[in-house]
Amino acid sequence: MDGIAELRAKYLEEIGAASGADALEAVRLAALGKKGEISLKMRELGRMTPEERQVAGPALNALKDEIDAALRARKAALEDAALDERLKAEWLDVTLPGRPRPHGTIHPVSQVTEEMAAIFADMGFAVAEGPQIETDWYNFDALNIAPEHPARQEHDTFFLHRDAGDNRPPHVLRTHTSPVQIRAMQDQGAPIRVIAPGRVYRMDMDLTHTPMFHQIEGLAIDRDITMANLKWVLEEFFSAFFGQRVKTRFRASHFPFTEPSAEVDIQCSWVGGQLKVGEGDGWMEVLGSGMVHPHVLRAGGIDPDEWQGFAFGMGIDRMAMLKYGIPDLRAFFESDLRWLRHYGFGALEAPTLHAG
Ligand code: DAH
Repeated sequence: MDGIAELRAKYLEEIGAASGADALEAVRLAALGKKGEISLKMRELGRMTPEERQVAGPALNALKDEIDAALRARKAALEDAALDERLKAEWLDVTLPGRPRPHGTIHPVSQVTEEMAAIFADMGFAVAEGPQIETDWYNFDALNIAPEHPARQEHDTFFLHRDAGDNRPPHVLRTHTSPVQIRAMQDQGAPIRVIAPGRVYRMDMDLTHTPMFHQIEGLAIDRDITMANLKWVLEEFFSAFFGQRVKTRFRASHFPFTEPSAEVDIQCSWVGGQLKVGEGDGWMEVLGSGMVHPHVLRAGGIDPDEWQGFAFGMGIDRMAMLKYGIPDLRAFFESDLRWLRHYGFGALEAPTLHAG
């Protein structure tokens, strides 16, 4: 039959030259599509004599199979090439080091607050909270600090502005965390064991004072709690906090919200300008405490004939300075990045009781 060799040569060349899936499909249609050249030739077989058909049939079938196979091979080759291209373009070196992301540090005050909460939690104290803007009732009256009491002046209180004719009770920025005692007693009743860390405010600014600082309050009320329990709790706390046995010394003092009241010192040495807690024969005052005054229990809705307990209040910032050897209180709140990087803690340095 005429033309088979030419068709074969023509289509094999076109298949070889097809540079993409679309071009290849066009070649397939031109050769083997319904109206393709080879398909039309095969239709002509019907009009041939049996003798002619016996020669042309197998030859055409062979051509069709060969072109079909060539099309498929070319298609596979084009797909492989496309995949190679993609692999080259999208290649990724998984051994490259990661891009560093900027990360901050945990402020020493946050770290120390967490450390303290972990130690007290181990002794059964839950964390309580209260607002930083308080009524003067919670901040003073409920704590047995009468309006004319000198403690109100001593606290250098920030009062919130009131327009003339605004008769709401005066609000203050809380001067201590003690008002959280009242709120916790009102919320939970007795028995109760809470600590309350948080910000407090006083109009004070010098080397060792900032107008905002941090305190942690403690409160334990039950039927038979005494000063002995207070001393045990505080010595356990300081020993866990400083990682070694720390002795405490109680000195009689006065606070309106406790009776009796005591200031508590911890043992320390002061050698060559180096302060060391838990050794030597020096003492440093670190907190105020006492047995909660009956008036304060009553303000918290608790019957003082049935319940009694202790309270204490301590500065957090100062404890952070002592534990981590940070010299200047004011630098705590200046947000100097170099200071924060130096004294800050990593996110994985979460305080635990089993870490040293
Ligand atoms: N609120 C006191 C202060 O700010 C500290 C304090 C002393 C708290 C004795 C107490 C306490 O709970 O019992 O100076």
